[in-house]
Amino acid sequence: MEQMTLTQAMQERHSVRSYLDTRVPEEIRAALAVCRDSLTNGQDLHIRLVWDDPEGFDSRLAHYGHFRNVRNFMVLSAPRGKDMDEAAGYCGEMLVLRAQQLGLRTCWAALTFNRKAVRRLVPDGDELIIVIAMGYGADNGTEHRSQVEEKLAARSADDPAWYLQGVRAALSAPTAVNQQKFRIARSGRTVSIRTAGLGPCLKIDLGIVKCHFEIGAGKENFQWA
Ligand SMILES: Cc1cc2nc3c(=O)[nH]c(=O)nc-3n(C[C@H](O)[C@H](O)[C@H](O)COP(=O)(O)O)c2cc1C
Repeated sequence: MEQMTLTQAMQERHSVRSYLDTRVPEEIRAALAVCRDSLTNGQDLHIRLVWDDPEGFDSRLAHYGHFRNVRNFMVLSAPRGKDMDEAAGYCGEMLVLRAQQLGLRTCWAALTFNRKAVRRLVPDGDELIIVIAMGYGADNGTEHRSQVEEKLAARSADDPAWYLQGVRAALSAPTAVNQQKFRIARSGRTVSIRTAGLGPCLKIDLGIVKCHFEIGAGKENFQWA
């Protein structure tokens, strides 16, 4: 079977909070580990892939957050004092999309997991940034409601196709509580995405949104401001 493109993966990805018992095969675990290694190589960001461990999301808070039967997850952390939130968003979302390509479903979780159990999995000297649930989904999730494009991105009559595609991809990105607190602007081939206003996990969101924009627009078409 031909593998779906990252663009398709972005379109089809939605948060999934209910999972099947189906075990994730070794070759898929290995493929995600390869992707993780290439993303975090030489960085202070650490991403641990945790398999067959139902404890990480076994808590009242996780159930309250509608998580069911989470058996696998990623733990993102960085050495204490290093701000790796944006990198966590960017690299975590690349892994989320890779997981989608491999048939898995995912959901970012900043709050609704078993913090005590997950803390034990964080390397010594690191601080936990965020967790991502993954596995075979009991469903495929649903498309989030999005704010109108014009509110999130500056537009002009001569916007090139790559910019419009990047903006559309950015709008499909997951953000904490679906807040979409970012603004995109373009000057020629230079693009900026900045956080706007207040909210939880804004820098993580920013990394996720930049990842989507890059895939949608094509890295070769623009540079970051
Ligand atoms: C940084 C971040 C933190 C999140 N934390 C949680 C969480 O603690 N619990 C939860 O159920 N969903 C969490 N989510 C999932 C968002 O609610 C979800 O991505 C958003 O509503 C958009 O929906 P979609 O992912 O289906 O497109 C988080 C998402 C992001 C990006």
